[in-house]
Amino acid sequence: MSEAPKLVSVVIDNITVQVPPGTSILQAARTIGGEVAPPAMCYYTKLKGSGGKCRTCLVEVSKGSNADPRPMPKLVASCRTNVMDGMEVKNITSARVTDARNGVVEFLLLNHPLDCPICDQAGECHLQDLSYEHGKEGTRYEFHRRTFDKHDLGPYIQLHMTRCILCYRCVFVADQITNKRVHGVLSRGDHSEIATYIEKSLDNDFIGNVIDVCPVGALTDRTFRFKNRVWFTKPVDAHRDCPKCSGKVTLWERGKEVLRVTARKDQWGEVEEWICNDCRFEKKHIDDWVIEGPTKINRHSVISQGHYVGVVKPKETFSAVHDGSKPKLLMNIHSVSEVNRPEIDLSAIPGPATSDVFNETPKKS
Ligand code: SF4
Ligand code: FES
Repeated sequence: MSEAPKLVSVVIDNITVQVPPGTSILQAARTIGGEVAPPAMCYYTKLKGSGGKCRTCLVEVSKGSNADPRPMPKLVASCRTNVMDGMEVKNITSARVTDARNGVVEFLLLNHPLDCPICDQAGECHLQDLSYEHGKEGTRYEFHRRTFDKHDLGPYIQLHMTRCILCYRCVFVADQITNKRVHGVLSRGDHSEIATYIEKSLDNDFIGNVIDVCPVGALTDRTFRFKNRVWFTKPVDAHRDCPKCSGKVTLWERGKEVLRVTARKDQWGEVEEWICNDCRFEKKHIDDWVIEGPTKINRHSVISQGHYVGVVKPKETFSAVHDGSKPKLLMNIHSVSEVNRPEIDLSAIPGPATSDVFNETPKKS
């Protein structure tokens, strides 16, 4: 019987954790959770080769290891640096890290349009969250922002290249999850862009997952575009018997309408199981799905505003105390509150009510 690998000990923000050798600092920090886990805009656990692009996950290594305790001179990308036994890492406890992260966010926003009010990703955009935490009020950039020729990626996926932060996640998804990649990053440096080169539609099976992995609003669902703000919708977990994928999804409902279907995501915002295009784009009727219950949303997320998960609806207490009979009259609040006095005809008030208007309002006949 093979022995379990010996764990290594690492201290992150003064908290000690034991993890298997070969674990990245980011994953080790995620075992602690909360703010100790650095933000990650390009790393994605399920995508091989991801990480190392965005630099939002930079941390300070103040002690390399027990064997070589020298600190690392530069901040390191925690998603691409593995832990060593005895390593000491600073994330939120390092002023250097906070300063660097502020700078990274400023760079990410150099060319990014500030169009959150009309962007479909608003409310679930990692860059929006980061800019609240680390962004500046204004910009120091004096030049024109980058612009691109529009590329049509077909009926399902909308590309807004100006919002792209070149994290490469969508390229890895197309490479590793679908049967054929037809898009990639073209050109170099400031001219780099996501495109298909020869206008092609992204419509192979499972390509819809690029929408879920895109950390910003560069790739959005055309079947949901401008239909609703995400915080007005109600996310519920649902499943169906799908021959192509697990069929486990989150439905985003408004009333009885299914406005959007996405994969389910974990606490780090990463897809739990990839879903096929049929489930995502073609099954928009509530009867297509077996509803499991409300999706757990982080209570700090704007999406959870107005949703009350797990609330037990109170029973009808009045009929219970009235031996089953319904109350005819509960209380005449006019007599106690002086609000909406019954002798005033509210429908006769011409506009927004002020005390003057109210005083002159005709009495009910
Ligand atoms: S389109 Fe989105 S997922 Fe693709 S590289 Fe740009 S930001 Fe990343
Ligand atoms: S998440 Fe580590 S560099 Fe992007």
